[in-house]
Amino acid sequence: MSRPVVGIIMGSQSDLPIMKEAAEFLDELKIPFELTIVSAHRTPQRMVEYSVQARKRGLKVIIAGAGGAAHLPGMIASMTSLPIIGVPIKSSNSIDGWDSVLSILQMPAGVPVATVALNGAKNAGILAAQILGSSNKVIARKLDKYKLGLKRKVEQSDRNIARKGWKMAV
Ligand code: RP5
Repeated sequence: MSRPVVGIIMGSQSDLPIMKEAAEFLDELKIPFELTIVSAHRTPQRMVEYSVQARKRGLKVIIAGAGGAAHLPGMIASMTSLPIIGVPIKSSNSIDGWDSVLSILQMPAGVPVATVALNGAKNAGILAAQILGSSNKVIARKLDKYKLGLKRKVEQSDRNIARKGWKMAV
């Protein structure tokens, strides 16, 4: 098995049903990744080790998901210069998801976290692939194919609704 180039980390096992969507997309593109639990509050030392070792271990991008008072993505970003994609999660301890969105989004200048939508782990997987694809033609080609698939799906839906009598006004 080839070495993981994307690290998917999350604050708790309860984040997995959301975070697995990032893993599934990377799997689809055959991009090697690792997936593990790293908690900013419950395993702070592991969080420090993970960020400090990440580049040395060959990771190129990290996707970090957390809910509630979501400090994991920002803290990881503070300790590595690898790009960090943050996934806010509407967890059981979240008020309404905004706590997690704002904790991950509103980073101070100098320490960016590329924040996707609430529960937007699939987009995090796509964005990680796009970062890798900017210098890897094989991945870029797979992403182009994926985007073409999205376009075709919309065209197909449009044909379906047209068949039902809905038409664009010309
Ligand atoms: C966060 O607290 C985790 O990322 C998770 O979203 C949330 C709840 O964790 P559990 O109490 O379900 O373990 O740190």
